[in-house]
Amino acid sequence: MSRHLDVIGVASQYCCDGLEVMQSTVRDSLDASFGQPAVKVDGLSKAFKGRPALQQVSLRVETGEMLALVGASGSGKSTLLRNLNGLQQADQGRVEVFGSPLQVDGQLHSKVRQLRSQVGFIFQQFNLVRRLTALENVLVGNLSQVSLWRSLTQSFTQAEKLKALSALERVGILDQAYQRASSLSGGQQQRVAIARCLMQGAKIILADEPIASLDPESAGKVMELLTLLNQEQGITVIISLHQVQVVQRYCPRSIALRQGVVCFDGRTAELDEARLADIYGSAVEELVLRGHSEVFVP
Ligand SMILES: Nc1ncnc2c1ncn2[C@@H]1O[C@H](COP(=O)(O)OP(=O)(O)O)[C@@H](O)[C@H]1O
Ligand SMILES: [Mg+2]
Repeated sequence: MSRHLDVIGVASQYCCDGLEVMQSTVRDSLDASFGQPAVKVDGLSKAFKGRPALQQVSLRVETGEMLALVGASGSGKSTLLRNLNGLQQADQGRVEVFGSPLQVDGQLHSKVRQLRSQVGFIFQQFNLVRRLTALENVLVGNLSQVSLWRSLTQSFTQAEKLKALSALERVGILDQAYQRASSLSGGQQQRVAIARCLMQGAKIILADEPIASLDPESAGKVMELLTLLNQEQGITVIISLHQVQVVQRYCPRSIALRQGVVCFDGRTAELDEARLADIYGSAVEELVLRGHSEVFVP
């Protein structure tokens, strides 16, 4: 325990340095990819057992945007997000990240691991290893089970621990660093997942319904945190959301999917009720009324 406290002590001394390193890494890569969209998708199609989930989806997300992905349940949001970092391969079409092809017509590029490291993913159910501490979760990152075991049997360097602690401080839960993930609240777990993206050096965060399992207060904190990372560190955020009030409050631009087809791509301010009704049909009441309106309506 004292060793842990030592590390925290050192971390609080050097946290600003750790953060500087993270910020300058993001800045350097932003320079390298200057002028390139963070994500470019052309003609992406994906079917499951012959049923189309994405149909000829094309879109472009500029570096530094905070974009909402909206649409009724089953409209293809998760499928699209998974395809953006190559967790899933499409049948046809192309995904580029900062100008480099990540997948083309179902083939992952040979540099997929390198590109994927720039893309963090957060899930509705957090996807942490519950028996590990918050710090260990940040350190091991999104590794496969095999490499997870390998990395747990190796020790991490002091510099890695400091960077992980700095990431936990950035998301506001440094004091929970040595708590098991299973003992953390949903909001805290989601912040660990975000810290993991920072540790990984992600310049894009894909978030699949990240607040759907949270109480309104925690949901607000997670949205504020993602906004802060977007505005202060220039991290591009693409986030699927159900609650229209949240989209209107936090995301200047939205893309809507209906049955796997992009049916709106524009300023969120233009998503008025008439357009929502047009986009969502019978699902519109669920979208407008459900969620955390009591917290999010200013
Ligand atoms: N792994 C899968 N196997 C079979 N069908 C799937 C799979 N993933 C998604 N689908 C189908 O693809 C469509 C889009 O699903 P999804 O991307 O999960 O939508 P959303 O996230 O908007 O709710 C749905 O019809 C869903 O049933
Ligand atoms: Mg989904």
